[in-house]
Amino acid sequence: MRKITFHVPKGGTGKTTLAGSVGYALRRHGRVLMIDGDPQGNLTSWYLNNGDLQRELSDIMQGRCDLAEAILTVRENLYLLGTFALGGDLKEWSETQLASKPFAFERLCDQVRDLGYNFLIFDLGPGISILEKSILAFIDEVVPVVAAEYFSADGMEIFEHGLQELRQDRKATFIAERMVINRVNDRYALHKAYQDVLKDRQYKIFIVHQSTGISDCVPEHTTVFEYDPKNKNLAVLKDLAAELATGGNDGTD
Ligand SMILES: Nc1ncnc2c1ncn2[C@@H]1O[C@H](COP(=O)(O)OP(=O)(O)OP(=O)(O)O)[C@@H](O)[C@H]1O
Ligand SMILES: [Mg+2]
Repeated sequence: MRKITFHVPKGGTGKTTLAGSVGYALRRHGRVLMIDGDPQGNLTSWYLNNGDLQRELSDIMQGRCDLAEAILTVRENLYLLGTFALGGDLKEWSETQLASKPFAFERLCDQVRDLGYNFLIFDLGPGISILEKSILAFIDEVVPVVAAEYFSADGMEIFEHGLQELRQDRKATFIAERMVINRVNDRYALHKAYQDVLKDRQYKIFIVHQSTGISDCVPEHTTVFEYDPKNKNLAVLKDLAAELATGGNDGTD
């Protein structure tokens, strides 16, 4: 089972958008479980209607119910373990309990594997608190999602420094070989300039363009694949999913 997350500490870059869209594309390659590891619960509110969620991730972490019971089928081959956007206690649990449970997420991951999933996608919130660190510690691949904007190169410095610390402090073994530059608008000359700066780093780059189809599908509780089947970003999302499915890197960029 491959464990994947889209992460950078910076907020609002499109992490949840990528997790939910690539999760959808990945289901062609196997059984996919998405876990909403963000106390904001954005991935959950995107995929589910109000009232659909009965049990959340933090219930599992606290042994309040069975994992299989809490997982919802959201599409064929695509499943979600959600987090309440309001009224949940993932944040409080992580701040008060998680420090004494260093293997909590590793155990969760073993349980997910035992249920027969091929892929686990974790959506993480911004920042790098104990919650994000504890999840990143057992992830196989981290895909940074950055915006084509002035501060992105700085954001990547902070991101890479954080990864290095996790490798040292927690013996994390993830790879970080692919990067998404999100919300690119080819009509902005500056976007091209920022892309060029980011291209100097050692990542294979996937460009996702700014698109109303990507944002407008969210309140409809659908994905861009379903909402806007001709969207020009679908090919890159599928390509990224196909690479993440194997973890392979064909060495080109
Ligand atoms: N390529 C895109 N084109 C248009 N809108 C986009 C695109 N990518 C993301 N968005 C929109 O930008 C907003 C922020 O995206 P998203 O919630 O995925 O960011 P995030 O990094 O998960 O944020 P947070 O750090 O709060 O978790 C959302 O409204 C989303 O619909
Ligand atoms: Mg998010």
